[in-house]
Amino acid sequence: MEYHNPVLLHPTVDGLNIKPDGIYVDVTFGGGGHSKEILRRLGPNGKLFAFDQDEDALANALPDERFTLINENFRFIKRFLRFHGVRGVDGILADLGVSSHQFDVPERGFSTRFDADLDMRMSQKNDLSAYRVVNEYEEQDLRRVFFDYGELKNAPALARTIVEARRDYPIKTTDELKEVLKKYLPEKVRNKVLAQIYQAIRIEVNQEMDVLKEFIEQSLEILNPGGRFSVISYHSLEDRLVKRFIKNGMFEGEPERDFYGNFSVPFKTIGKLIVPDDAEIKINNRARSAKLRIAEKI
Ligand SMILES: C[S@@+](CC[C@H](N)C(=O)[O-])C[C@H]1O[C@@H](n2cnc3c(N)ncnc32)[C@H](O)[C@@H]1O
Repeated sequence: MEYHNPVLLHPTVDGLNIKPDGIYVDVTFGGGGHSKEILRRLGPNGKLFAFDQDEDALANALPDERFTLINENFRFIKRFLRFHGVRGVDGILADLGVSSHQFDVPERGFSTRFDADLDMRMSQKNDLSAYRVVNEYEEQDLRRVFFDYGELKNAPALARTIVEARRDYPIKTTDELKEVLKKYLPEKVRNKVLAQIYQAIRIEVNQEMDVLKEFIEQSLEILNPGGRFSVISYHSLEDRLVKRFIKNGMFEGEPERDFYGNFSVPFKTIGKLIVPDDAEIKINNRARSAKLRIAEKI
């Protein structure tokens, strides 16, 4: 089975405006689709560093001396690039979220299609798992996870039901979780609600929102002036953070105005929001929610 079919391949790499001798980073290597395209456009002196926290992605490492794959979380991008002697880069690409491979391997627990242990860790080194979130979180924390990350209006009822069920026995598998929550999963909305519940737990397990914020802030520090930032997100929570930071240089609120009433912002937005066309969605259904934003460091 194919590891991952890259989404918005050309517009995302075009967004980096690659200089043949530049240094680039692909923080979500996965099956290496975007990385291969970056290498194709780089000259012999260019360099590409890639990150993936999933050990499975290491098998896709590209045999190219301009390429280095780092099996770490991109929340540590600055630290690991520094370890490799890199302080400034010309472009950073992020294709956020989960790879098709992670969805397609039943034991990883990411897909609503299979029964599996409650796992959902993107990195095998992660201590927090879906099992721990479901069985150990206080009710109010479960409520927050479902509300904030799943945008589920009935978050309080879902949290209460889980807490009551696990008093008798731990909830070990995804099928057991579905059984516990079955009264909130009527046939008509079952797939949609399940997707929201899984998304919420997955974001919590992998601390995706905090990680994204840390990564974006560090990206700004390590991009050279004129360096490009090309980011694909797959749900509105991620996209909102990316959009606000590009526009305002902060995640909340508005930047201060200078004496003349102008904002001082660190990025210039390049082009409009890009989404896949119908042809791409037809051959790759996972592209359907993708949103690409491109910015240049001022
Ligand atoms: C959507 S896939 C990327 C696919 C890739 N662009 C390709 O063309 O094959 C996202 C990948 O990023 C990795 N990933 C997600 N969050 C990460 C993080 N915080 N640190 C490192 N890798 C991460 C996942 O393990 C997954 O392999």
